[in-house]
Amino acid sequence: MAIPRDFINELIARIDIVDLIDRKVPLKKAGKNHSACCPFHSEKSPSFTVSRDKQFYHCFGCGAHGNAIDFVMEYDRLEFVDAIEELAGQLGLAVPREQGTGKRPDQGLSRDLYELMEEANLFYQSQLRQHTDKQKVVDYLEFRGLSSDVVEQFGIGFAPDGWDGLLGRYRQNLPAQDKLLTAGMLIANDSGKRYDRFRDRLMFPIRDRRGRVVGFGGRVLGDGTPKYLNSPETPIFHKGNELYGLYELKQKHRDPQHVLIVEGYMDVVALAQFGIDYAVASLGTSTTAEQFQLLVRSAKQVVCCYDGDRAGREAAWRALETALPLLKPGDQVKFMFLPQGEDPDTMVRKIGKEAFEALMQKAMLLPEFLFDTLSANHGTDKGALAKQAIALIEKVQDTVLQNLLLENLAHKLGMNSSEDLKKKLGFTVKQAKPLNAKGLQGRGTPLRLAIALLVQNPSLGFGLAKQPALDRLQMTGIELLNHLLDITREQTLNSAQLLEMHREHNQKSTLIKLAQWEHQVADENVLPEFKQTLIWLNNQYIEQRYQELSLKQALTKVEKMQLTKLISIMKGIAK
Ligand code: GTP
Ligand code: MN
Repeated sequence: MAIPRDFINELIARIDIVDLIDRKVPLKKAGKNHSACCPFHSEKSPSFTVSRDKQFYHCFGCGAHGNAIDFVMEYDRLEFVDAIEELAGQLGLAVPREQGTGKRPDQGLSRDLYELMEEANLFYQSQLRQHTDKQKVVDYLEFRGLSSDVVEQFGIGFAPDGWDGLLGRYRQNLPAQDKLLTAGMLIANDSGKRYDRFRDRLMFPIRDRRGRVVGFGGRVLGDGTPKYLNSPETPIFHKGNELYGLYELKQKHRDPQHVLIVEGYMDVVALAQFGIDYAVASLGTSTTAEQFQLLVRSAKQVVCCYDGDRAGREAAWRALETALPLLKPGDQVKFMFLPQGEDPDTMVRKIGKEAFEALMQKAMLLPEFLFDTLSANHGTDKGALAKQAIALIEKVQDTVLQNLLLENLAHKLGMNSSEDLKKKLGFTVKQAKPLNAKGLQGRGTPLRLAIALLVQNPSLGFGLAKQPALDRLQMTGIELLNHLLDITREQTLNSAQLLEMHREHNQKSTLIKLAQWEHQVADENVLPEFKQTLIWLNNQYIEQRYQELSLKQALTKVEKMQLTKLISIMKGIAK
């Protein structure tokens, strides 16, 4: 189902992009615009600008640009529809849907899958209250010290023992069974017989960023194996993209200061119960690049928490290797190791929230963890240490961090400065991409200027009379101007709204370029300058028609009249 265009328009009109971005990337006022170091590439001086008038952002360094929807898509890594949901949520609006053509073929199926997953979720929760075996689950929860509040908050449930607890509810509904199979909730054996995947387990529903249940983790109620059983990858569940607890976290904190990455579901839930309601867990795998990116964008500081044993250190190292290439200036990643034999669940129960948060405060900074580990790996072999360090440092995109790591390395190697080290290694620190705004400067053709002025100030077109000459003018690109004149004649729009209407348009990239083009026309001259370009274009047509007609040997009577008229108009305008 499509989202009505009017709604999207209203959204862009009501969201202020400066406020939106300022909350994530603090902006400084610079003349008419606001600016900051670009969140989408690494740089030391700000080339990222946000315009309140035009309601969009543009980076002269890397070329990133767009309106509020683009920003949320890029920055929070959301799909278009999810970005709309996010913005609407900020305004407290529900997103209306209309029957439309733009359906993806699998949308019907995924919608059914989400519904079935929610039904399964409710079923498991109800079994916790109603099933004849419920006492042993209640006992287990008590044994693990989970409060009923937190059980409810995370929607924890119980999958009863037996082959058809869930299946039995769809006995007569084969299509639903097929979908449950696709959703990973049922398994078919070799002879095609179907049965429940999750049996006699404590169920942790895993939600996506929009709060939809997309998978489950199921824990045995005791010591059986496997200890945890997770949903398989399905059309709606991709383990590498989701984080357990992220939705619950976002419900509590719209802009969290920090997030804590832990290893287990149980850890997330126990921490939340003790007031540390900003923990998330990856889904039984190492933290992926996608998950990291999601986290550094969700919070200023990301603390990765691991067991103090060898496995914990190794997992932390994998996380560091994943994180290095994607860190941006200002991102903070720290590493925290718990004492042997403890995990966040046992630890927070032992020492409580405040002491746990004090441990978090003392977490190691990334460079410290990096060099500690390298020293431990290589001992006194400085050559080997340098080699591994350089291989890692080369991957870093954030030039500030990269220089800091080089300084650290130089110090480790007993050199005075990283300059010596760079010389010795022939190592060059990457420069941020050169500014590419130059290419767009200069006044360009009048047609280009007319379109740019109109895109940047759509109100210029409002109520403007039809320009029949422009419809007939033969000139590359004139259709785009006519098209924009048609749109802006009828309604008052801002630039961001106008661009939004062209998200799928084949001239989208031209429009975006012109929207950002620094045309050097002063504000007070925009209107006269725009009129001038229209007059010039009208004249072009007259000229064209005059040429056409005068080339003809024998003009018809009508053509002769037209010609005379054209000439007199030409003379009139030239005055
Ligand atoms: P408790 O033992 O209940 O306290 O769980 P935990 O959260 O301490 O789990 P643990 O540290 O043992 O494991 C961390 C995470 O790894 C779990 O949340 C699961 O996602 C995953 N995991 C653990 N054991 C298994 C297993 O046997 N199979 C699979 N697929 N994943 C597991
Ligand atoms: Mn545990």
